[in-house]
Amino acid sequence: MTHATSPSSGLDLRRSETVRRLAEQHATDRGALMVVLHAAVAELGHLERTDVETIADVLNLSVADVHGVVSFYKDFRTDPAPAHTVHLCRGEACQAVGAESVFAQARAQLAHRDDVEVDEVFCLGNCALGPSAMVDGRLHGRLSGERLLGLTEEWVR
Ligand code: FES
Repeated sequence: MTHATSPSSGLDLRRSETVRRLAEQHATDRGALMVVLHAAVAELGHLERTDVETIADVLNLSVADVHGVVSFYKDFRTDPAPAHTVHLCRGEACQAVGAESVFAQARAQLAHRDDVEVDEVFCLGNCALGPSAMVDGRLHGRLSGERLLGLTEEWVR
């Protein structure tokens, strides 16, 4: 198969080589597409259109198939992450112990900032210790609005 893109800069070329290497490395894995997408996001932070094309090329899939998976799952970012992320659980167990209030407070305190992403997720596997959230990729439980403010206070200085 031919390459769908021609990288125009050294940075683009390195990115393209990284994605190709990851895709080739996992091409024979069971569920290779998901494995490759997770690996690419872990290494590069997000997926660009050219990454989708490279992965489709290596795995012998259509770009539409790969794009469909990328756009279905929130974890496969298509733009760079902001400096900070707060992903609050709104699953049933967390809702039962006050997640809605924590989410509302997080949005009020942080959602207006360009450098902070406040988003919802549905179960982080920490149900017994809810309300739960991932704050900059780290799991926290027994959250309250005040605790969340404490975890993020240095961001808002
Ligand atoms: S429902 Fe929130 S961690 Fe499971």
